[in-house]
Amino acid sequence: MKKQKILITGGAGYIGSHVVKMLGEQGHDLLVYDNLSGGNREAVLYGGFVLGDLADAVLLKKTIADFKPQAVMHFAASIIVSESVRDPLKYYRNNTGNALNLIEACVAGDVPHFVFSSTAAVYGIPSRATVDESSSLNPINPYGASKVMVEQMLRDVALARQNFKYVSLRYFNVAGAAKDGSIGQLYKESTHIITRALKAAKGEFPRLQIFGNDYTTPDGTCIRDYIHVDDLAAAHAAALEFLQAKGASNVFNCGYGHGYSVREVVTVAKKVTGVDFPVEEVGRREGDPPTLVANSEKIGKVLGWKPKYDDLEYIVRTAWEWEKKRK
Ligand code: UFG
Repeated sequence: MKKQKILITGGAGYIGSHVVKMLGEQGHDLLVYDNLSGGNREAVLYGGFVLGDLADAVLLKKTIADFKPQAVMHFAASIIVSESVRDPLKYYRNNTGNALNLIEACVAGDVPHFVFSSTAAVYGIPSRATVDESSSLNPINPYGASKVMVEQMLRDVALARQNFKYVSLRYFNVAGAAKDGSIGQLYKESTHIITRALKAAKGEFPRLQIFGNDYTTPDGTCIRDYIHVDDLAAAHAAALEFLQAKGASNVFNCGYGHGYSVREVVTVAKKVTGVDFPVEEVGRREGDPPTLVANSEKIGKVLGWKPKYDDLEYIVRTAWEWEKKRK
């Protein structure tokens, strides 16, 4: 792939920082734009850094005018489903409104390519065992709805402008950490199951709660498609290459095509850590669909992306190596 100038919003966050690492290792010229509300400056291993908020349209336009990126990758967002149910406007502002600012700034600065961090939450409760990209978008929480609206904006802008193309990547459940232990998940508030299970193993939480055991799934707990963060980073590199080579817009699921129940995740976490941490089964958490598993054929066929780490134990082990080093 030709070296590019890439502006990365949210590059100090969990997924963004892994993409920065991969693209930095490939020699691209990177500039991270992040307000550090959820991210960490030390996680940005390559490129320049602008401490900025996406709500600041003036700084955003100036940053793009000065840097003149060939592509923008947009990670910065609020991501907690249950919080989005309690505080929907935060999600429409941070995810939808700020994306509008960013897309406007890209149009003003003639940025040709845009890669968007979308989510499996756009599908809501799918009617099939695995969802493909043509499945209908029926989000059941404001988080998913806030992202659907951005996908729609991107589609409309790309239709209206010849020289604007985008790829939306719909992430399933991203987990794990860099193999070399340099970066990993570092949220101020951990809500994800694998991180919480590991924190329970460390004794940071007295127990792990399983939210809901009466879902219509084989063991009654929710099923998710867990994808290693480095495989997801590789999907971003493939999306950039596709935009560069084909100059066409597209949407791809990012998952492995099979899922694990919460109970199965707990079993693997206990095995990897060697700690039989306490587990309590409690009521359902708001906004959780019973099953979300990707049909991931399209990304393989069109982008040539192949997973390298499709192994829950590997995912949990890399997360555990990272987590053990945290206080
Ligand atoms: N869970 C527990 N206990 C916990 C934490 C989670 O039982 O302490 C359960 C949840 O109820 C859910 C499953 O584990 O059934 C996975 O939950 P996560 O919070 O790890 O992930 P989500 O599936 O809620 O969220 C992820 C991404 C979102 C994406 C969403 C799609 O973080 O960005 O998948 O549903 F939108």
